[in-house]
Amino acid sequence: MDGIKGEDIYFRVGEAILANVPLSMVLTDPNQVDNPIVYVNGAFERLTGYSASAVVGRNCRFLQGDDVDQEEIRVLSDAIAAREPVTVTLRNTRADGKPFRNRLMISPVFDANGDLHAFVGLQSEVLSTPPRDGHSVTAIDDRIAEMQHRMKNHLQMVASLVRMQSHADEGSHGYDLLSRRINALSLLYDEFSRPPQAQAPRYDVVSAGGYVSRVASTVGALDGRRDIRISIDVDPVYMRSEPAAQLGLITSEILSNTLQHAFVGREEGMISVSLKQGGGDRVRLSVSDDGIGMSEDWPKTGNLGARIVSGLVRQLGAELKVASGSGGSVVLLDFDSVLDTSLEGDGTRVVSDAEGARSGETPRLPGE
Ligand SMILES: Nc1ncnc2c1ncn2[C@@H]1O[C@H](COP(=O)(O)OP(=O)(O)O)[C@@H](O)[C@H]1O
Ligand SMILES: [Mg+2]
Repeated sequence: MDGIKGEDIYFRVGEAILANVPLSMVLTDPNQVDNPIVYVNGAFERLTGYSASAVVGRNCRFLQGDDVDQEEIRVLSDAIAAREPVTVTLRNTRADGKPFRNRLMISPVFDANGDLHAFVGLQSEVLSTPPRDGHSVTAIDDRIAEMQHRMKNHLQMVASLVRMQSHADEGSHGYDLLSRRINALSLLYDEFSRPPQAQAPRYDVVSAGGYVSRVASTVGALDGRRDIRISIDVDPVYMRSEPAAQLGLITSEILSNTLQHAFVGREEGMISVSLKQGGGDRVRLSVSDDGIGMSEDWPKTGNLGARIVSGLVRQLGAELKVASGSGGSVVLLDFDSVLDTSLEGDGTRVVSDAEGARSGETPRLPGE
């Protein structure tokens, strides 16, 4: 992997995802002495007044200042020692010395092999006079739990991707390919940060159409060949974030393959990407090209990309078909976009991160 250690890559790609998280967060490395901060995002810098360079390498406890005798600190350290998720409210101090009440949710991140990679902490200020739009502790907790759940799933997917990638022999392209895969995941956060629309009233629901078209244009732009045209046509298609992330990664793999392999020895080419809502909840992703054609057995045959896609197709409960001939190839992915019933229509999300952690769910990628 280009001389970069697996763990470094893990944090590097993790950062790419976390930079877009719209909530104050820290990432700590429990595999280093005293569990130091390895990353904070911009929202953390704004909340605490500390810059990233001032805090990376330190244990989070400096935020308590002199106020070290807090019952909740003991609750927190016990949970960290036990590698369990925990939520507490601490009296913390900003860089300018002003105190604030910090609602903090910490959660361990394990990879599919059960190895502990990181703790993710999300912070939100508890205001003494809550604004009317519902900054109650419950509302804060819902928001944090939501974000936590999503980030943990992504970090676990990243951990699995890093592991698979390091076992696959992709030479010096390894890091680029991994970055592209991670990039597809991080784009999902752009969909969350948009104001909720009438058709998508729930926290954990994203427009898969918007996301897929963003993934497609990003992958296309990275490739950058002007004589290969990509047309994109999507329905909004509202989905939960986890299956949407799987769909985004699949789209990225298939489209990258088309750009890399379909037009070998050709000057020009045409690619169409579409995501269409059919009858009921049926959704179809289609990626077609007028290139040289490919094996209709893909992804049963193929390389790492094929293994990643096979695993994701299974997780999504989808069906993948390839049709190919002298006129080019079409890859079709059919699945249901059913929204999870644990989401209520009033905008609250019912499944808590703690429940997820208890059930031991870990998104798995193939080959593990
Ligand atoms: N759209 C396509 N047109 C032509 N060949 C393709 C296309 N998509 C995939 N392939 C073929 O399938 C192979 C396997 O793809 P994949 O499993 O993603 O591995 P990789 O991209 O690393 O070679 C490619 O090497 C290529 O030969
Ligand atoms: Mg590929």
